Formats: sequence, C-alpha cells, structure tokens
Amino acid sequence: MKVTIDGQSVEVEPGTTILQAARMIGGDLVPPAMCYYSKLKGSGGKCRCCLVEVAKGSDADPRPMPKLMASCVTGCMDGMEVNSKNSERVTEARKSVTEFLLINHPLDCPVCDQAGECNLQDLSFEHGKSETRFIEEKRTFEPENIGDKIQLHMNRCILCQRCTTLADQLTDKRVHGVLNRGDHAQISTCVSAAIDNEFSGNMIDVCPVGALTDKTFRFKSRVWFNKPFNAHRDCDKCCGKTTVWMFGNEIQRVTGRKDQYGEVEEFICNTCRFDKKEVSDWTIEGPKVFNKDSVINQNNYKRPLEKVIIETEKNILLGRDEDRVKISMSGVPLKNSNK
Ligand code: SF4
Ligand code: FES
Repeated sequence: MKVTIDGQSVEVEPGTTILQAARMIGGDLVPPAMCYYSKLKGSGGKCRCCLVEVAKGSDADPRPMPKLMASCVTGCMDGMEVNSKNSERVTEARKSVTEFLLINHPLDCPVCDQAGECNLQDLSFEHGKSETRFIEEKRTFEPENIGDKIQLHMNRCILCQRCTTLADQLTDKRVHGVLNRGDHAQISTCVSAAIDNEFSGNMIDVCPVGALTDKTFRFKSRVWFNKPFNAHRDCDKCCGKTTVWMFGNEIQRVTGRKDQYGEVEEFICNTCRFDKKEVSDWTIEGPKVFNKDSVINQNNYKRPLEKVIIETEKNILLGRDEDRVKISMSGVPLKNSNK
C-alpha cells in the first residue's frame, strides 16, 4: 500500500497506522505522540497530540476525512494522502491540545527531574503559547507514596495511561490504574499497595512527563549535567542493556536505552535500574548518541567560538568610569582645594 504524507510517499504493510508510516519517512512531518508507545500494545488514542488531516481517504474512496484524525490509531489505506506539518489546521489543533494539556500541568520545570527530557516540554516548545487563558485553579492531589523506588507526582500526570498499559502487559499483577473520571481522574495504586514488581521501574521510562520519577535519582542532578553512556551487564532477569547517566565517575541513574522517539528499545529490570550504581557493575560501551538539538548537547560544541562583544557591558563600564571620575577627588587640582 502506498501512503503520502506531506508530499512524501512510502510503501507500507496493511495494518500500519499513519503515525508508523510517518516514522518510516522520518523528519519534521512525524506527529508528536504523548500516549502512543510502539512497545505497548493498545496504547494511543488518549492525548490527541498526533492529529493529522486526511486529505484523500484512499484510491478507492478519495473523499477527505472531515475531522482531523489521531494518526496513532488510524490505519493507512492504499493511495491515502495525509497532511501533517504542512497543514495549518493541524498546527492549530496541536496548539489547542498543548494548551489543553497544560491547563492542569504545573509549570514546575525548574524543580522537576524530567526537565530536559520531558515530552510535554518539547511539545510546548514547538506548539505552546507563552501565556495561558486558564484563570481557574489547577487541580491538585495529595502526595501518594507508591513505594521506595518510584515517585508519583500526580499533579503532573497527563493521564496518557502508558504506565497502566505497561503494568498490565509487563507485570504479573497490575496494582495501579486510573481511578475516578473527568477532572477527578487519577493514576493510583487502587489499594495503596506498593508497586514492587521486578519490571515496575519501566513506568518511569514510559511516562512522558515528570509524574513518575526515579526516587534514587531525585534532585541529584539536572539531566544535562549528566553524561549518558550505553552500558551492559550479565543479567538473568532482563537484557541488561542500559544507559548509565554519569556525573564524573559516579553513576547517578540507570535507564533503558531510548530511540529517537524517546521510546525504550528493551525494558530493563529493577535490579539493573535501581541497585547497580557502581561503575564496576557495568561494561561501558561508549557515549550514547543523542539528538543534535537535545538539551544534553549544551556546551558540547567543538567549533571555535566567535568573540562576542556585548555593547551594553561596554557602555556600563564606560558609565562606571565616568561616575568614578565624578565621585573621586583625584581629578581636582590641589590648588583649588581648601587645604
Ligand atoms: S503517570 Fe505518567 S505514564 Fe502514567 S498516566 Fe500519568 S503521565 Fe501517563
Ligand atoms: S499519540 Fe495519538 S492520541 Fe496520543
């Protein structure tokens, strides 16, 4: 089947979604995704970030689809034509979805461990507005302890349900889920039981925002001060292939290896994630490749820096010199003094 997205065509298998086809093409036309996760069956269809415009349904039925479609749950048809980045309607819709997601999400990036690798931060950077029209109070939740390794910060949750889907599919007994409805909906452990399954730590990796973070790494460092290295160890529970985040010679955090869409390649166990923080525990393979535009790339430029002349500073210094002359007595001739 052939599908065309923003003028670029790709051959896909039946059953491929528009989002997957866009990822096959790659580049700017790939819609953002906050709830879809390729490694989790049945994920997607919750956040509406990935909306696209279907300008032609298929060769057999070329009528356009009247509404914007969630690309992560809409299947490709032969001859389908889709507008993503090229469509103003889509851009406007993504702006609205971003505004909607930010209605209740706190703007606490300066203290949030997810800052620098948060999908919502990236989404707002691209589609967000600098001010909000929401004047009501944001919803808040009482802090809830869900165990000694994972921190749940419900105020930041965007209810993408990736964590519950993961818990459903990866752990043998799901102990948390979405409770209540509408404005009161929240992720909870249902019976306040600790999430102690060996693979529960992966919820931290799939959470697109800072609602689920690693307690063993909390407030230790901003991610852009860490150096990520791919590493592996012999593990009898998981693949043992991880990314270790180092500060000097200290391993501060261990995560799954993520691809260009921020999705882990293989899920890892809690022993690798939380208990193996010594360099001797790991075989370090080398620096992890990260995006050119990533926040982790800050200060990493190798090219020579141009000398920057800051006019304001020059003028301030000039002004200070003039003031100094005015204040000091040094310029006053001795014969005019009272001495
Ligand atoms: S805690 Fe994170 S992963 Fe779970 S629903 Fe909320 S935002 Fe999604
Ligand atoms: S990624 Fe498609 S609806 Fe969330």
